[in-house]
Amino acid sequence: MKPFDVYPLYDIEPVRAQGSYVWDDKGNQYLDLYGGHAVISIGHAHPHYVGKLTEQLGKIGFYSNSVRISMQEELAQKLGQLSGYENYDLFLCNSGAEANENALKLASFHNGRKKVIAFTKAFHGRTAGAVAVTHNPSIVAPINYNEHVQFLPFNDADALEAAMNDEICAVIVEGIQGVGGIQVASEDFLQRARKACDGHGAILILDGVQCGYGRSGKFFSHQYAGIHPDLITTAKGMGNGFPIGGVLISPKFKAVHGMLGTTFGGNHLACAAAIAVLDVIKSENLIENARQLGSYLMANLSSLPGIKEVRGRGLMIGIEMEEPAEPIRKKLLYEGHVFTGAAGKHTVRLLPALSLSKEDADLFLQKFEEVIKAVYA
Ligand SMILES: Cc1ncc(COP(=O)(O)O)c(C=O)c1O
Repeated sequence: MKPFDVYPLYDIEPVRAQGSYVWDDKGNQYLDLYGGHAVISIGHAHPHYVGKLTEQLGKIGFYSNSVRISMQEELAQKLGQLSGYENYDLFLCNSGAEANENALKLASFHNGRKKVIAFTKAFHGRTAGAVAVTHNPSIVAPINYNEHVQFLPFNDADALEAAMNDEICAVIVEGIQGVGGIQVASEDFLQRARKACDGHGAILILDGVQCGYGRSGKFFSHQYAGIHPDLITTAKGMGNGFPIGGVLISPKFKAVHGMLGTTFGGNHLACAAAIAVLDVIKSENLIENARQLGSYLMANLSSLPGIKEVRGRGLMIGIEMEEPAEPIRKKLLYEGHVFTGAAGKHTVRLLPALSLSKEDADLFLQKFEEVIKAVYA
């Protein structure tokens, strides 16, 4: 047997990592401005994280959700405190798609409706409901196709208000579109979406899977707009690599035994990882670091040649190049030894650990400039 070949691979195998650096099997060192796709939030192999997980593994790694797991309460309490959502409940699962899947179900259970509004270039995951609200026909299988989903132009509040009616179950939107090219949802758009949902008994779901957990310089990027969604989904940075996702659920939802469930969600190891992440985000002031370093990077990137636009917030940055981005990313990786991400053909996507240092940011800027100059020469 061999792995099912669904990913185009770079021929590099990281075998060790620390902070914002990874090393391959040949001993080469790479600066990581990609964070394993926005997953590494507190830095690779953080000692507090390694310690907490190792200690937990030696005690109890897993038991089912049929018994009390008080670490789930500790996690919910710490997450509520740090995110500012102390009066919300938390449902734990294992991934971003699963978080969105459960959020859509909760919305539909709540108001008994099934029509959902989503937006152009949205990405919400690959499970049945999540992929149905994802705006990419090439990853929607016939069995996932959902005639209840309507796609509207992203950031177009007029179109949203015009489309709202009392049959709409939910509106689902990313605070900052990641796969869609680092497009920030405007404050006006989110505020009007909140009002439109309120006016029609619809549920507002904010997908914070990629833009959440401090990455934007606030705990959730929608907090720049001052809105309170009914449901907020999270995953990626939540476990710093340990698979865990969650739905933050407003007090308007009433839990009924059996309405949601999971085997692995909220297990001891996942909770240990997520608690360690929150401890470090708090003690090292990483949300503020993301805000400052993000502004620093964006200000310095804007003046480089060959760049059409720099978008984003905090350490979620899209650099739209005038020419295709792939040659730049490849040269950065193979010659500059810097990992970056992509979004579409022209955009380099930066999703580093929130613990990125100023020295690492400067090193990236220096290498990026060298590569741009060489590729565009
Ligand atoms: C905004 C957003 N939502 C959901 C997902 C799906 O998360 P997962 O791959 O953990 O299922 C992603 C993954 O990239 C994402 O960026």
